[in-house]
Amino acid sequence: MKLASRMDRLGVEGAFNVLVRARALEAQGRNIIHLEIGEPDFDTPKNIVAAAKQALDQGWTHYGPPAGLPELREAIASHICQTRGVRVGAENVSVVPGGKPIIFFPMLALVEPGDEVIYPNPGFPIYESMINFIGAKPVPIPLSEERGFSFDLDRLRDSLSPKTKLLILNSPHNPTGGVIPPADIQAIAEMVRDRDLIVLADEIYARIYFEQAPLSITTIPGMLEKTIILDGFSKTYAMTGWRMGYGVMPAWLAEAVNKLMVNSNSCTASFTQRAGIAALTGPQDDVAKMVAEFRRRRDAFCAGLNSIPGFRCAIPGGAFYTFPNITGTGFTSEELADRLLQESGVAGLSGTAFGAYGEGYVRFSIANSYENLMAAVERIRKFIADNKR
Ligand SMILES: Cc1ncc(COP(=O)(O)O)c(C=O)c1O
Repeated sequence: MKLASRMDRLGVEGAFNVLVRARALEAQGRNIIHLEIGEPDFDTPKNIVAAAKQALDQGWTHYGPPAGLPELREAIASHICQTRGVRVGAENVSVVPGGKPIIFFPMLALVEPGDEVIYPNPGFPIYESMINFIGAKPVPIPLSEERGFSFDLDRLRDSLSPKTKLLILNSPHNPTGGVIPPADIQAIAEMVRDRDLIVLADEIYARIYFEQAPLSITTIPGMLEKTIILDGFSKTYAMTGWRMGYGVMPAWLAEAVNKLMVNSNSCTASFTQRAGIAALTGPQDDVAKMVAEFRRRRDAFCAGLNSIPGFRCAIPGGAFYTFPNITGTGFTSEELADRLLQESGVAGLSGTAFGAYGEGYVRFSIANSYENLMAAVERIRKFIADNKR
C-alpha cells in the first residue's frame, strides 16, 4: 500500500533527528553536549505540578469542552489583556495540545491550495512543512542579520499579493533569537492592515526576552481583528511534555479551530488544563529566574563564540537560541553541525534545518548548564583550530 501523495509534502523537524543521532552516540559511550533541542532545561515549577496532581485526585480525568475549560480560557484572555494590552475574551481563545496545532488548524481553516503564505526563512520548520502539506505556495522572506534578524521590509512589501492569505510573524524568533523592533511591527501592520489576509503572530517566546519587550502586532489599531496569537505553556513554564498551548483570534476563527479540535483531539487533557490555570494565576518568580539564567548564559556563550576564529554571533534579544554566522570558518552549515556532533560531541543544528536561507549559520540552544555551554565553546574552538580551512 502506498502512502497518500500529500505525505511527500510533509517535512520534519531537524532538532528531533539530531537528538536521535546524539542519543545513539551516547549509547556508544560518547559524551555529548546537547545544544540541539528547543526546550528549557528547567523543571516545571512546583506549584504547577502540584495543581496537576490535585486535579487528578479531584477527578479531572474526563473529556472537557473542545475549546478548553471555561476557567482556563478566561485566565488566558485576561493574561493576554495584561501582557499585550489588548481586549479579548474567552470566546477568542482555543486551548489545544501544544503551540503547533495553532499553526496547523488555522492553515487548514483558512488557506486554499494555491493561496500564498509568507513566512520567515530561516524559521520554525513546521511553517514551511504545513504550507506545503496543504498545497499552498510558500513565500519565504529572508531575515537580515544586520537588522537583528528582523524581516527585510522591502522584500516583504514586494512579496504581498492578492493571493496572500496568511503572513506568519515570529518574535522572539526561533532559530535566531531576534526580536522584531516596534518600528518594524508598525511598518508591517501598515502594509497589511487593508489587505484581506490574516496574520499568524507566533508569540510562544513572548515572555523570554532580555532587553526590549517584543511588541505584539495586535496592539496596532485594526490588527487585533485580523491576527491569531499563538502562545502556550511549553517554553514559558518549561512544560514542553505537557502538550498545552493556545490561540487567541477573532471568534469566528476560534469556532473553526474548535471544530477541528472536535475532529482531531476532542479536547486538551483536562487535568493539564487545571495546571495551566495555576501556571497563569500563580507566582511568576520561576519564569523570571529562568529568563535571568538564560541572559547570563547568553552573554557568556556569545562572548565565547565570538572569540572563535570564523564565528560571528549576533546577541539574541529573546528566546533561548544563538545563531552564529559561521561563513568565516570555510565550512558549510551542514558539514560543521555534522562534524561538531561526530568529532567533538557538540550537538547543534545546521541553519539549513530552518530553511534554505539558514545557510551560513548554526543554531545552538542555550538551554543547557552554564558549565556545559562553556565546555562546548572550548570543544568548538579546538575543532576549528584542528581543522583550519
Ligand atoms: C517558534 C515556535 N513556535 C511553536 C512551537 C511549538 O511549541 P509546542 O511545543 O508548544 O508545540 C515552537 C517549539 O519549538 C517554536 O519554536
